[in-house]
Amino acid sequence: MAGGTENLEALEAEAHEAIAAAGSVQALREVRARFLGRKGSIAALLRGIGALQPDERGPVGQAVNAAKERVEALAQQREAAIVGEQQARSVAEHRLDVTLPGAAPPVGGLHPVTVVECEMIDFFTGLGFSIEDGPEVETEYNCFDALNIAPDHPSRDLHDTFFVEGGHVLRTHTSPVQIRAMTGRTPPFRFIAPGRVYRHDHDATHAPMFHQIEGFMVDRDVTMAHLKGVLHAFARRLFGDDVRVRFRGHFFPFTEPSAEIDFWWNDRWLEWGGCGMIHPQVLRNCGIDPEQWQGFAFGMGIDRTAMDRFGIPNIHLMLDGDVRVLEQVR
Ligand code: PHE
Repeated sequence: MAGGTENLEALEAEAHEAIAAAGSVQALREVRARFLGRKGSIAALLRGIGALQPDERGPVGQAVNAAKERVEALAQQREAAIVGEQQARSVAEHRLDVTLPGAAPPVGGLHPVTVVECEMIDFFTGLGFSIEDGPEVETEYNCFDALNIAPDHPSRDLHDTFFVEGGHVLRTHTSPVQIRAMTGRTPPFRFIAPGRVYRHDHDATHAPMFHQIEGFMVDRDVTMAHLKGVLHAFARRLFGDDVRVRFRGHFFPFTEPSAEIDFWWNDRWLEWGGCGMIHPQVLRNCGIDPEQWQGFAFGMGIDRTAMDRFGIPNIHLMLDGDVRVLEQVR
């Protein structure tokens, strides 16, 4: 029987090795079938017991059964280990760290023109100015005649003005809101009028549509000094306390005297807008007696102001609505 036991030892060692080498539940199942199954090698040994000497049958049978149990126990251990490894791997693969910050959805922001416009409105409403509105399709009268702009004035030229049928134009400036606001009102009053204006212009610094803000104030003793004070405070609000402003004598048909206002920013003078004392004829056109009332008015580009403020070199970069540009201006 010595040979039988040796066989058993070799077989058990082989089974242990095969079990240790099994890398998956499937492979282990095959190993099990090979050694422990009904047609497996251990079963074959058990079947062979009948052919042994009667006195050998007992000890050999016990030895085979003991070996079978050890192999079975080992296979179970191995299976538990394989399943455990698989679970650990799966947990590692699907790990979710709930403390990580979430992916933020992209959010919109205000357009630079809107940012600057809101600041301008905020500044002037703080000074007691109210907002007055007017249509973008305006009468030629409000846009030009009432503002003392003679019929042959170059600003009425086809090169500047978009004409609409029926004596209307796309307003070339926000100044016609002066006429709308003052007509039928008795001073004192102060208004601002931000909005879109249109000119027949298209190059790096001009777009056919852009934005202006108009401001005007009428009272008994309003002077140019008030105008300068207000515009200087306005510039400081937008560009900081160190900003300098300068007034250059100029001509506008609807103000007298008139000036252009510049401000010093990034080491150079930048043109900002026009201003002056409201022309007596404009007051008269609105039914206001210029002997009793005076006022100042000013108008400047909002887009230009935003470009200077945010360092945008080309007006089309700002107005074309390219989010790659706009995202940089926050
Ligand atoms: N309307 C003028 C322009 O568009 C600006 C301006 C407004 C000038 C008010 C004086 C007073 O250029």
